[in-house]
Order: sequence, then C-alpha cells, then structure tokens
Amino acid sequence: MICYSTNDVRSALESGETFIIYNGDCRHLFESTSPESIDFTLTSPPYFMGKAYDRSYRLNDFIADHQEIAPEVAKLTKTGGNIAWQVGHHVKNGVDVPLDFPTYQTFSNIDNLILRNRIIWTFGHGVHATKRFSGRHEAILWFSKGDNYYFDLDAARVPQKYRGKTFYKGPKKGQLSSNPNGKNPGDVWDIPNVKANHVEKTAHPCQFPVALAQRLIRALSPPGGVVFDPFAGSGSTGIAAALDGRRFLGADVNEEYCKIAQNRYEMLLDQKLQVRPLDKPVYEPNPRSKVARLPDPQTEVESIP
Ligand SMILES: C[S@@+](CC[C@H](N)C(=O)[O-])C[C@H]1O[C@@H](n2cnc3c(N)ncnc32)[C@H](O)[C@@H]1O
Repeated sequence: MICYSTNDVRSALESGETFIIYNGDCRHLFESTSPESIDFTLTSPPYFMGKAYDRSYRLNDFIADHQEIAPEVAKLTKTGGNIAWQVGHHVKNGVDVPLDFPTYQTFSNIDNLILRNRIIWTFGHGVHATKRFSGRHEAILWFSKGDNYYFDLDAARVPQKYRGKTFYKGPKKGQLSSNPNGKNPGDVWDIPNVKANHVEKTAHPCQFPVALAQRLIRALSPPGGVVFDPFAGSGSTGIAAALDGRRFLGADVNEEYCKIAQNRYEMLLDQKLQVRPLDKPVYEPNPRSKVARLPDPQTEVESIP
C-alpha cells in the first residue's frame, strides 16, 4: 500500500502489512520508525548525476546527504542486521569518482558498522565512452551491524562448475570434493542491468534488477523479516522481498515512482509480473548467428534484389 503520512506507515507496520511505500522524503521515516526495527536495508541512492530525480550534479551533495542519512539508517537497523548500499560512479567531464569511496568513508565511521564485502556488480550494457573505457560495473557495500550478524550462505549458493568432481587421493578419495548444494557466489556478480529490452523495465530511469536484490535479501535477511529501501524508486527491492517472503518498507519522494512500485506488487500478486530469474544465464550470442558475424560483402550484394 502507498502511505502519504508517517502515521499511516506506523499503523501499517504494526498491523503486519507486507508491502508499504511511503510517498515522501525518507528522512521523515527516520524520525517516525522505531530504532532497531529493520532487519535489512538495501538501497541505491541518487548519484547526483543530473537524472530527473537528482537535485544537483554535485558530488558534495551526495556526501552531505550520506553524512545525514547513514547514521539514521544504522539506528533503524537491528543489531545483527545488515545494510547494503548499491552505488555507481559520479562522472563529470570525464573525471570518475567511484561512489563507494565516500560511501565507505561515511558508513565505516559509524559505531558498530563493519564492512563485510565490497561486491562488484558487472553488466554488459551502458553508456559508450570514447575517451575512457566504458563503465560496466557498480559496487555494493555490505555492512553488518555488529559481529553477530545474519548471513545465510546456503540461501545464495550457485551451481558448482564441476559438480561431480571427487578427491583423487587421501582418506576422502572418491568422495565429492565440492558442496553438492552449490558454491559461494563470490563477490563479483554478472547480472544484466535493466535497459530498454529488459522484461522488468518500467518508466523509472534507473532501476536495478530484481535478481540483484534477491541474492542479497536471501543471504542477508531472515524469512519474514523487514527489508527497507529509503530510495525505493520502482520498488525492485520490494518485489524481491515479496518474492522471497520478506516484508517491505520503502520510500520515494516521487509519487509516480511509488505508483509504479505498487502496481508492480499488485501484478506480482496476480502472477502477471515478469521478473528475470537470478539463475537465468547471461545471454551469449551464438557465434554462428548472422548478427554475430560481419556481413559477407559478396553475399550481401548478391542478396540485394
Ligand atoms: C537510483 S533511484 C532508485 C531506483 C530503485 N533501486 C529501482 O530499482 O527502481 C533513487 C530514487 O530515490 C528517490 N529519492 C531521491 N531523494 C529522495 C529522498 N530524500 N527520499 C526518498 N526518495 C528519494 C528518487 O525519486 C529515485 O527514484
């Protein structure tokens, strides 16, 4: 449900509502939500890159906002809970500032927040640079609140490359040498980003894929727990939370985006929402297909009527 006041958010949380979006500034939720009530915060904040929703194109505004927001998010998060901040790059006049640098500096100064991983999210498409290599990765900084933190590796395992491989000598000779339930996915994740032809694309200019959120939610939040996204946009975090049986609280200042998120949730309930599965392999063009080859001038000329 979309809430337009923090009182409504509070009642919705108390009554066990599973999908709540606050249409307003996330800072209002910091004041009205009980401390230590969130299991996992996952978000992608504005990068201040001149997008429709960015209030400026200044790195200093990103830093100032984070200095204000990060301690509040930490306060809302349960001890033993987690925070994952997905950020890209602030690029201006060809000068690249990886936003995980200032993000790390801000969050790691907060008492009891400990960086567990810097995950690289890599993808195949994006802006084509001409004076530098085209950017094809962003980062996710995962912090736990405290040392005794929730982490379910089994929920995030991926298939082993050689499932049937066995020990070839020693006391375990002949036994499987790798975990049959799959391997640790590591900290470099290749997941297609949401471009125009992606099944999840909405009118939001900057969605992240549901699959990215799913792996994090499965590993870093308990079933039935509350997942929070202060910059919810089209609600991708919420969709991932709903798919995996978590409750969701999100905020976005833009009403249109809140409606997109709510609509996606309703489509999910009606089993009409298309989501790219996390285990779907990244598309590799067949090297023999026509589009994978340069046109043969002879054939091309001959085929022109
Ligand atoms: C990078 S987008 C998030 C996209 C989201 N991860 C998705 O998959 O759709 C950042 C969002 O933050 C929202 N926003 C900016 N400032 C905000 C604020 N102070 N409080 C809440 N939302 C805000 C913008 O409207 C925008 O939709």
